[in-house]
Amino acid sequence: MGRISFKGRSVIVTGAGGGLGRAYSLEIARRGGAVIVNDLGGSTTGEAGETSTQYADRVVEEIRGAGGTAVASYDSVATPEGARHIVQAALDHFGRVDAVIANAGTMRYGDFETLGMEDLNALLAVHVGGSWNVIQAAWPQMKQHGYGRVVFTTSSAGMLGNAKLTAYGAAKGAVMGLMHGLAEAGKPHGILCNAVMPNAMSRMTANFKPNDLGENPWSAALGRHFDPSYTAGLVTFLASDACSTHHGIYSACGGRIGRVFVGVTRGIADDAPLDADAVASGWEKIRDAARGYDVPAHIADEFRIVAEQRGIEIPSRD
Ligand code: NAI
Repeated sequence: MGRISFKGRSVIVTGAGGGLGRAYSLEIARRGGAVIVNDLGGSTTGEAGETSTQYADRVVEEIRGAGGTAVASYDSVATPEGARHIVQAALDHFGRVDAVIANAGTMRYGDFETLGMEDLNALLAVHVGGSWNVIQAAWPQMKQHGYGRVVFTTSSAGMLGNAKLTAYGAAKGAVMGLMHGLAEAGKPHGILCNAVMPNAMSRMTANFKPNDLGENPWSAALGRHFDPSYTAGLVTFLASDACSTHHGIYSACGGRIGRVFVGVTRGIADDAPLDADAVASGWEKIRDAARGYDVPAHIADEFRIVAEQRGIEIPSRD
């Protein structure tokens, strides 16, 4: 066992019956954590049909076989009631919730014209609704303990974009809106929220051919680095008490772990409104990150940055 320990800690991992969630659960359990292995066991698109308890059960067996502690949960994250059951299972079995890894997800793939509102709504329900529901159910008692770690799951489809994953990308982008807000809401209570942008072979991605996500000669070359274990270290760290930062997005891709951030260039500024002609002539400067950029930590921080950049002082209140 390494330095980071989950002894005495209880962690909920949603969608943990395979792929990434399984890898997170195994690693946290290996480090002494008690894990709620939640998985509905449905199809990768989330279309109504059979669900299976086998996915969660298998991971629980694996953890117990290795001497770890885990309990299976088969509720859907997509309803508040399902989420309450998941959190209740953690409280009943382990007495507390220290961390939530909101990982459950499904995907719908296709040209924009072929996807409907039912696709968008289904993905919003599991990704945004699922994160919202489980975190909201766990929030009061994390707040009460003054401690919590939350790991959201976004995607390069939401952060960078892909033509065939518009509905999925919209849901994953919305997950980031939720993370940004909860990171600020949680910090005063010791609840640190961060997000991960994984890339891994799993049930969800197994059928992708190298160019399904656009011309991509690189993914095959990066091959073995797409095992979920290449993301597990990052997520385990973010879910642990060793992580003391919040409001970050981290990418695990092809063996590289790095921070993803929203930056704003210095751009152009004037006291008078900049009209369309001024924008056109300043366009290169507006776009040019090489002239410098800032990474606002939250909404008010962008106001601070602009005021400082422009030499505008805060008026005195007298
Ligand atoms: P996966 O399909 O192996 O795992 C997702 C699990 O979530 C499945 O086992 C599924 O049964 C479960 N699930 C689906 N709906 C659920 C619900 N309503 N309630 C409870 N469980 C539910 O796929 P993978 O790749 O391990 O995905 C994990 C997360 O990572 C997902 O949120 C996915 O969108 C995200 N992701 C994965 C990437 C990859 O390259 N594999 C890339 C970017 C993001």
